[in-house]
Amino acid sequence: MVVLDVPRFLTVGGEEIVARCRALAGVSEERGRLTRRYATPAMTRANALVGSWMREAGMTARLDVAGNLVGRRPGTSVLAGTLLLGSHLDTVRDAGAFDGPLGVVVAIALVDRLRQEGLALPFALDVLGFADEEGLRFGTAYLGSRAVAGTFDPSLLEVVDDEGVSVRDALRAFGGDPAGVVAGAASRRGERLLGYVEVHMEQGPVLEERDAPLGVVSGIAGATRAEVRFAGLAGHAGTVPMAMRRDCAPAVAELVLACEALARETDGLLATVGKLEVKPGAPNVVPGHATAFLDVRHADDAVRAAAVATLHARAMEIAADRGLDVEWDVRLDNPAVAMDPELTARLARAAPGAPSLASGAGHDGVAISALCPIAMLFVRCRGGLSHHPGESVTAEDAQEALDVLHALVTDWAAEMKRDV
Ligand code: HGY
Ligand code: MN
Ligand code: MN
Repeated sequence: MVVLDVPRFLTVGGEEIVARCRALAGVSEERGRLTRRYATPAMTRANALVGSWMREAGMTARLDVAGNLVGRRPGTSVLAGTLLLGSHLDTVRDAGAFDGPLGVVVAIALVDRLRQEGLALPFALDVLGFADEEGLRFGTAYLGSRAVAGTFDPSLLEVVDDEGVSVRDALRAFGGDPAGVVAGAASRRGERLLGYVEVHMEQGPVLEERDAPLGVVSGIAGATRAEVRFAGLAGHAGTVPMAMRRDCAPAVAELVLACEALARETDGLLATVGKLEVKPGAPNVVPGHATAFLDVRHADDAVRAAAVATLHARAMEIAADRGLDVEWDVRLDNPAVAMDPELTARLARAAPGAPSLASGAGHDGVAISALCPIAMLFVRCRGGLSHHPGESVTAEDAQEALDVLHALVTDWAAEMKRDV
């Protein structure tokens, strides 16, 4: 059991929120940098630490069958339903401290503040620490939030990680219950849910440019992730004549440049190859296999689909020109998601003056939008930096986000009392 020396401020305000995110960043599966993948021992340690903060705030905390951490503060009226809050606790590789954890820690701080104020709400508050938003381990995304939304595809249990471990076996080893996930034991369908509100760092430069601490999200861009596997013939780097080679490295290089060129010439399109594999991976061996992992995004689904089709055709062309085989495997294909207008208007009233902005980044709300209304509050981050260890959010802005959540739930409770 890792017990981190987390500085404890009297109230869980902005300073404590930032301190907790930075303490949690010390819970990693890698030495010297933050990487915390789905259903790993590091996630177990993270859930234990965040679960202790939930309990300190007077909540119950449990792990659902999909590996999500679920904190609960009951309401005074079962009829009033439940408001879902939270974000994700998994990270990318070499991550920053705030992408995901900020939303969970701010939500817990809200519950702690309500406890200290002795304020009871008619509706319950659930704080969710989603287990797999980034999809780093299995190349998927939203495994945890899909289970909560009741949209989990059982075939996902067979997907394997780089070590050949399946989602099923990883989840079982983690203490989850794969059969329970398929049976819908983590699903919140059928419950009276007021909605899902997620606080998340912006991960972009807009709020800093607008000198605004907070922003209200209008929508989330659609995203496609594809694995493009070229197969040729390995050979001796010193003996195979260039004209006789079936070298896969130049093929992925051509595809990477094609992605960049298409995105540069298409307004609003973002295309990235964030991971490349060249095998067998020896300097003196002509690569017989190479894989490019594509990430293509756009606010307009039709533009994204056309771009994906163009890159697919280009990959086929590259393979044909070079005498290679090629497999194009779509790992994730999420349409753009609009925020719920009513819940977003309610959030905007609690955050007067906060500008509206779109999210180029994906979030668990994409999955949860199939379950209930969703809204998001963005928090300014330094330089717009994210998916980078230099991620930074100020205590003042974290406090502002906490104040907005507090206004949201207390105004909502007052309204319900008036309506009774
Ligand atoms: O990739 C994304 O947009 C998110 O950080 N998972
Ligand atoms: Mn992220
Ligand atoms: Mn995130």
